[in-house]
Amino acid sequence: MRIDGKAYRTIWEAQDGGAVEVIDQTLLPHRFAVRRLDSTAAVADAISSMVVRGAPLIGATAAYGLAIAMTEDASDRHLATAYDTLYRTRPTAVNLRWALDRLRSGLGGLAPSQRPAAAWAMAAEICEDDVETCRRIGEAGAGLIEAVAARKPGETVQVLTHCNAGWLATVDWGTALAPIYMAHDRGVKVHVWVDETRPRNQGASLTAFELGAHGVAHTVIADNVGGHLMQHGKVDLCIVGTDRTTSRGDVCNKIGTYLKALAAHANAVPFYVALPHSTIDWTLRDGVREIPIEERDATELTHMTGRLPDGSLATVEIVAPGSPAANFAFDVTPAHLVTALITDRGVCAASFEGLASLFPDEARGAHGPGES
Ligand code: MRU
Repeated sequence: MRIDGKAYRTIWEAQDGGAVEVIDQTLLPHRFAVRRLDSTAAVADAISSMVVRGAPLIGATAAYGLAIAMTEDASDRHLATAYDTLYRTRPTAVNLRWALDRLRSGLGGLAPSQRPAAAWAMAAEICEDDVETCRRIGEAGAGLIEAVAARKPGETVQVLTHCNAGWLATVDWGTALAPIYMAHDRGVKVHVWVDETRPRNQGASLTAFELGAHGVAHTVIADNVGGHLMQHGKVDLCIVGTDRTTSRGDVCNKIGTYLKALAAHANAVPFYVALPHSTIDWTLRDGVREIPIEERDATELTHMTGRLPDGSLATVEIVAPGSPAANFAFDVTPAHLVTALITDRGVCAASFEGLASLFPDEARGAHGPGES
């Protein structure tokens, strides 16, 4: 990713060691600020307050959180406490558990004196892996956009996306947006309908910001507009990300994704979900019943933050005082509404068989289609 001509990732190691630096996503698009995270508590707070967010980036940040924890104190006890602190930050994105488990199992067999260096190396590896994984998702998904372009020569391919599954949600490239960036870079004319994504507005604030930075044509729309656009033939395909995908291909993503999938199904618009291998939860089958759905503070719904004409940021209340508000952060789209999954190993059906064809080793220990 490039911001004002400078190459960035969303997370990197601080030059003086023992800390990481991240882009503070709560201030975008109005301010570009880098935040230093130098303790387990600071990392946990950055994840839960969504200074960093997006399933793959949550995983990468948590991995560095454990590395920082090992620099603080490499004992078994601190490893267990730090794991727990980081694990409790956000419940839905399975990348968090995936990254923490990967570090904990790698560190468990080592002497405490070896743990800090090993933990930093493992966290760095997770970040490198994420960049390459997302690049591959881009390669796999760009073909789908190019296929649409080939069917309507000279015309623009219209893509609809929800939330932010771009480079800000990962270490670089993104998941849902990676195919769009790659197709755009190859000269395909693409335009993206960007759902604003209430209540935290990741679409309006983050997706629009990064598409603009990359030079991709886009239009921000209210969350309720997608169905109308699809009815009028103005969406060729939808691509969204996911925070957890079950072994049978149910996908959990930002609240409102399910409604877009229903509208896409009703209007015969292909609905694709892009994901890295780290987002598959092979222990779960039925996403609607089994995936924990995060409920966040109601003030995210009752209040909005934006920029005033003088450049200062302000938060205002938009709900009648005293009205209760419920803030469900994610929903589950059943596999039958998903046209295909775009993974780092290629495109497959949203089903156990589809996923197993690309991830045979992982699928062997998973819940199969007939198991309860
Ligand atoms: O609450 P957020 O902003 O962390 O939610 C992010 C999403 O729902 C993304 O679509 C998902 O993490 C996929 S990101 C590659």
